[in-house]
Amino acid sequence: MTFTPATIRVGDRDMSVSPLFTESQIKARVGELSAEISRDLGSAEPLVILVVLHGALLFAADLVRGLTMPTEIESVRLKSYHGTQSAGTVEVVGSLPDIAGKRVLIVEDIVDTGRSIATLKERIAGLGDRGPKVVRVAALLDKPEAHDASLVPDYTGFSIGRNFVIGYGLDLDGRYRNLPYIAELKAQG
Ligand code: IMP
Ligand code: MG
Repeated sequence: MTFTPATIRVGDRDMSVSPLFTESQIKARVGELSAEISRDLGSAEPLVILVVLHGALLFAADLVRGLTMPTEIESVRLKSYHGTQSAGTVEVVGSLPDIAGKRVLIVEDIVDTGRSIATLKERIAGLGDRGPKVVRVAALLDKPEAHDASLVPDYTGFSIGRNFVIGYGLDLDGRYRNLPYIAELKAQG
């Protein structure tokens, strides 16, 4: 059993940690998403899985195993977050893989303000005639109340409230990504 403390210190506050989605709930939902994506995008034509590192690693690893079309796995790194607060600006680290004329599924752990995915989509749009033919977004989690960029993922695992979540790839300052379940942090008292 993976150990999670009952509370985690964030800055100068102790936050309580409570389970939100179990391992089996996640597995079932990711299986449904794979089936839906395979139905919508299924063909002999390959799909480029553009994994947004590091958060979407675990989600993407499970999602691709349920896809029925041929896939090519690529990754991109975005930097945007510090602690539990969005840093406001988002940066695409390094260059994008060659996705000219391809069908691309961006795989993201969570859409919070929506700025990360909006920035990535802008970068992709800026590729012009070296750009992909189709771009879709799959996010394991979505925080609709937190959006400030108008972005709705094409595929969403679960919609959640504003609380910060950890586990199944999601981190707090680089930690807790290995938890097999998702837990939320709540202010105490
Ligand atoms: P956005 O640009 O505000 O949509 O932020 C998206 C990125 O912030 C995600 O890819 C995550 O890396 C990180 N993030 C947002 N909310 C959470 C959370 O609750 N837990 C962990 N990471 C989060
Ligand atoms: Mg992160």
